[in-house]
Amino acid sequence: MKALTAEFVRRFGCTPALVVRAPGRVNLIGEHTDYNGLPVLPFAIAQSHFLAVSECGKRLIEIANLDSRYPARAITLDDLAAFSQAGEWDNYVRAAILGLRDGGLATRDNLARGLRLLVSSNLPASVGLSSSSALVVGTALAALHIWHVQYDRLQLADLLAEAEHYVGTRGGGMDQTVCLIGREGHVLKIEFFPLHVEPIVFARDVEVYLADSGVRVEKSGRGRALYNRRPIECRLALAVFQSWAQTNGRPELAGACYWGDLVKPPLSLSHAVVLKMIAEAIELSSYSQNDLCRSLGISQTDLRETYLKIGPDDYFTEPADGFQLRRRVEHVVAEARRVEQAVEALRHGDVSRLADLINASHASCRDLYEISCPELERLVVAAAETGALGSRLTGAGFGGCTLHLVRRADADRFEGAMRRRLGESLRLLRVRPSCGAEILETANQQTAD
Ligand code: GLA
Repeated sequence: MKALTAEFVRRFGCTPALVVRAPGRVNLIGEHTDYNGLPVLPFAIAQSHFLAVSECGKRLIEIANLDSRYPARAITLDDLAAFSQAGEWDNYVRAAILGLRDGGLATRDNLARGLRLLVSSNLPASVGLSSSSALVVGTALAALHIWHVQYDRLQLADLLAEAEHYVGTRGGGMDQTVCLIGREGHVLKIEFFPLHVEPIVFARDVEVYLADSGVRVEKSGRGRALYNRRPIECRLALAVFQSWAQTNGRPELAGACYWGDLVKPPLSLSHAVVLKMIAEAIELSSYSQNDLCRSLGISQTDLRETYLKIGPDDYFTEPADGFQLRRRVEHVVAEARRVEQAVEALRHGDVSRLADLINASHASCRDLYEISCPELERLVVAAAETGALGSRLTGAGFGGCTLHLVRRADADRFEGAMRRRLGESLRLLRVRPSCGAEILETANQQTAD
């Protein structure tokens, strides 16, 4: 932290008022369920961004990063929404402040005082550990503490999940929530709409390894279209399901806003029943735009405006293989059931059961949600043959990292065997459930030292 503070003084000519730590996360199970209103089971990790911050005294947010890949920028507060090109790091800072403004947490007076932020990090970017959401959360916390604004962490998580949509990815609320609420030694069962968090003690005699596939997925770059396609397909699938429910004597199902509403009270259907209905309701294996208009009884314009719009003048177009509705939501509903089962397995200390669920989750992510790639598969296969209890891709997919569950007693052997098999350059990281975002230092503490 001393290096960060010293560099802050060198760059900005004043000491930071405080330092915020905003951690990355690993998702144990529950992939692509969050934006469908279904639960996830992630944990925060020790790898984090550290943001040193002070007021600026001008209507500017000056940002700099110890990593030279992220150039210094000055964001004019009157021009917050003037986003840079996709992938530029200032976009996440802009999104955070816009979110605070939208949520009424950034007054005109506060904004007028501006901010200076210097970031250092040991959280790798674009590997599926949610470094972008950590930056959004870190920026928001830095601003709120500088402005002495009271906030509620759950409400803030909701606000920031929405704010990150400014960057153009239609993600859910998992990343921001676990970054804010993570607890040491625990995974969080997070439910959405409304947001609810339950910490669950993680297995004691088990290690979690991450292996880096080397395939980078910038959420705002290549990953964006790949990612956005999934929430769109899930929404379309729900619309097709509901129009089937209307004509098949189940009009009460038409009120569901998310897939999760079907399994929550008052509807409280079981996952098995929903899966059975999906098989009946979603008849085609793939849908063209014309098929969708026919099924939903709407025009092409309505289809585009209601379901395919991803930004001002930005519409999703029909994929070459058509919209894959049935297999996507078969994954989502079965994955939600696996999350519930994984919570039970953790409560009973049943690590083998947890590992089986993790393996099943990976197969479903690969075959139904189609978010794996050859490099991830290579890691999962190698780990299974090297003594991992369970393995899966973690995060949005399309690259990034795999997660491996290994008995603590086997950890060193696993590590050695993986390296012998895949080469010494294999990037393997042991991670533990850690606490969520925190304020590490204040100016007063620094003077006191
Ligand atoms: C990204 C999104 C999350 C979630 C995961 C997939 O990390 O930001 O909201 O959808 O992908 O589970």
